[in-house]
Amino acid sequence: MQTKPRRSKPKLFLILLSLFLLSSSSFNNASTITHQFKEAPEFYNSPDCASITNDDNINDNNNNNERYICSSEAVHVAMTLDTTYIRGSMAAILSVLQHSSCPQNIFFHFVCSSNASVLGAAISKSFPYLQFKLYNFDDSVVSGLISTSIRSALDCPLNYARSYLPNVLPLCVRRVVYLDSDLILVDDIAKLAATPLNENSVLAAPEYCNANFTSYFTSTFWSNPTLSLTFADRKPCYFNTGVMVIDLARWRAGDYTRKIEEWMELQKRMRIYELGSLPPFLLVFGGNIAPVDHRWNQHGLGGDNFRGLCRDLHPGPVSLLHWSGKGKPWARLDANRPCPLDALWAPYDLLQTPFSLDS
Ligand SMILES: *[C@@H]1O[C@H](CO)[C@@H](O)[C@H](O)[C@H]1NC(C)=O
Ligand SMILES: *[C@@H]1O[C@H](CO)[C@@H](O)[C@H](O)[C@H]1NC(C)=O
Ligand SMILES: *[C@@H]1O[C@H](CO)[C@@H](O)[C@H](O)[C@H]1NC(C)=O
Repeated sequence: MQTKPRRSKPKLFLILLSLFLLSSSSFNNASTITHQFKEAPEFYNSPDCASITNDDNINDNNNNNERYICSSEAVHVAMTLDTTYIRGSMAAILSVLQHSSCPQNIFFHFVCSSNASVLGAAISKSFPYLQFKLYNFDDSVVSGLISTSIRSALDCPLNYARSYLPNVLPLCVRRVVYLDSDLILVDDIAKLAATPLNENSVLAAPEYCNANFTSYFTSTFWSNPTLSLTFADRKPCYFNTGVMVIDLARWRAGDYTRKIEEWMELQKRMRIYELGSLPPFLLVFGGNIAPVDHRWNQHGLGGDNFRGLCRDLHPGPVSLLHWSGKGKPWARLDANRPCPLDALWAPYDLLQTPFSLDS
């Protein structure tokens, strides 16, 4: 009887040790992200903001969050979160809050494909007052549909999550503003969210009719009438999918996720375009989207896709700066080779510098 417990002791020790190692490694995981970022200040509604009140149950904390999720007074914002772009996401969130007149009425929906709890903890630490919900995006839903593009960064499954927002977000959310992680707002997002969608439009985005639309698809596509006829009764223009106002209810009703997937399935069999998640959006929605002023997507600031050259702003007013393209402002700032406009991103950077005294 005495030998039994003695024999199990080392086992117990090993179990405890491995438990300790497991928990300390996941702690390291969380802390490497969370301890890197500063806490953002709290932002308050101005007096004339709509108040999101709870009619049913005042004391229930969980309900507190739920009533924001389903509120039509709230401005709903969807973004993806991953470890690579978390610094960009944090800057984007900060910029949204800072320029909003009703920051407490903004609800964030974050879609992650992995490390969700770690990323959520990082967001909570930097934005303790933020109303948000995390969603797990199952990569396998889309990974079989992705064909390689000219830029490998575009082939990441999470890049396609925007096509699944209507399925991922709760049914009660009828309209959402989708934002990429490499942008900052310098204007009130409520104005963008209020973009009128005429009777037939499912989404709104700035359109660029001077861009050469032909060049987004291959000659295989244009020379095949059954394919190119998809644009026969439309006047499609290029739009960037990094900033979109989406009517989720109409999207669901029209089953547009399925339509996007059908083009992706075709792309796997015959190459009809070269870029990643963008062309299926052009195929499904091009020519039928509601216009948004160009000020809401000053895109391309990441620069040239091949050499990373600096780009200038397009003429006109600016409400949103978007570093789409290969170069990212945080990487160029870190490398001490910033483009002139990267200085506009820097004030929103929450990364803790080694020498900063505040925390
Ligand atoms: C961090 O978390 C990820 C996903 O949860 C896991 O795969 C990885 O092994 C973890 N890394 C460490 C150092 O614990
Ligand atoms: C999860 O987090 C770990 C540690 O931060 C990182 O090394 C890994 O790449 C992350 N996984 C993904 C898929 O982002
Ligand atoms: C538009 O792009 C196509 C394909 O890349 C090219 O053949 C055509 O000459 C371009 N048109 C203009 C007006 O630049």
